[in-house]
Amino acid sequence: MKRIRVKAARPYDVYIRRGMLNDAHTMIRALKKDARCMVVTDSNVAPLYLDALADSLGADTGSFIFPAGEQSKTLATFGNILEHMAASGFTRADLVVALGGGVVGDTAGFASACYLRGIDYVQIPTTFLSAIDSSVGGKTAIDLAAGKNLAGAFLQPSLVLIDPDVFQTLPAPVFNEGTAEALKHGVLYDSALFETLATGDFKKDMESVVYRNVELKAAVVQKDERDTGERRMLNLGHTFGHAVEACSGFSLYHGEGVAIGMLMAARISERLGVASPGLSDTIRQALLQNHLPTDCAFDAEALCRAARIDKKRMGDTLTLILIKRIGECVPYDIPVSDLLSVMKMAVGTA
Ligand SMILES: NC(=O)c1ccc[n+]([C@@H]2O[C@H](COP(=O)([O-])OP(=O)(O)OC[C@H]3O[C@@H](n4cnc5c(N)ncnc54)[C@H](O)[C@@H]3O)[C@@H](O)[C@H]2O)c1
Ligand SMILES: [Zn+2]
Repeated sequence: MKRIRVKAARPYDVYIRRGMLNDAHTMIRALKKDARCMVVTDSNVAPLYLDALADSLGADTGSFIFPAGEQSKTLATFGNILEHMAASGFTRADLVVALGGGVVGDTAGFASACYLRGIDYVQIPTTFLSAIDSSVGGKTAIDLAAGKNLAGAFLQPSLVLIDPDVFQTLPAPVFNEGTAEALKHGVLYDSALFETLATGDFKKDMESVVYRNVELKAAVVQKDERDTGERRMLNLGHTFGHAVEACSGFSLYHGEGVAIGMLMAARISERLGVASPGLSDTIRQALLQNHLPTDCAFDAEALCRAARIDKKRMGDTLTLILIKRIGECVPYDIPVSDLLSVMKMAVGTA
């Protein structure tokens, strides 16, 4: 078993071990011996993993299951979870257990942050992406009609339990989204991690891959829990990625947008002389080896329109995260008025 202590204002542990789901109750009961638990999960994860977890947690365990998918990350689901907790007579002595991907983790986390002004919750992430990204760091949120993640709160989980064996039931494109975010961590902070992932042949030791990624994410969170500085580095590939996702009418997976966005950031980094030539080829190869897309089907004008809508709260300056070399990135401010020329570099038409 691997353990990472996240030294946030309220510290907590992340445990990583294959097969951990089957004895998650040991760790949860060590945290809160007599708490009643409510497992929040979605309609895809429930038939696969809920019974085993609920049975082991004991008779007093309730559950709340909502339809899988981003379209459930709403005020309505959030409200239903709160009502369910209230109807069950939940108190601050009790515990929410979020069993699922980032949608479950974000929604159940936000409900935990709001119920009785905050009750403890445990994250059991079941996607590669949620294990290395959303389950650690305490950002919780739901979507509003005006955009993604617009209502939320910071509340660190009390415990995170990661069983990499559950990734075996993920559809390949969903697994690959995690790979895109893991490659991002490598590009930002760790060239050895990048090289391991770039081969596309890392699945035999998921425990180690997850461990290194969580270690990197935890280090960023510890430096900048409330997202006012270092945490923005994690946006590498995301400004462009969101624009690509939006242009596709969200038919592209988020991780696919990040993959394309990271390659766009690499091209700009080369063009501006921040990186040496060859960087974007290295990243392209790593994406291809991992069955991630590399081509942006949209022109600079369309991407620019999407990015402006996405960033309507951004003011006159936009901070891009550019790549100096694999393992080292830098924030790079541009005036919003330069966005079109930068987008042209990103798609290779300037
Ligand atoms: N809080 C943060 O810091 C943070 C960071 C990154 C992303 N997010 C959020 O996370 C969400 C994306 O998370 P995600 O990619 O995990 O998506 P998701 O939760 O929608 O899961 C993807 C799909 O996989 C299914 N699934 C989950 N685990 C499974 C398993 N083990 N086997 C089979 N199917 C399984 C789900 O039901 C869903 O259909 C977005 O809403 C995003 O905004 C939050
Ligand atoms: Zn992301």
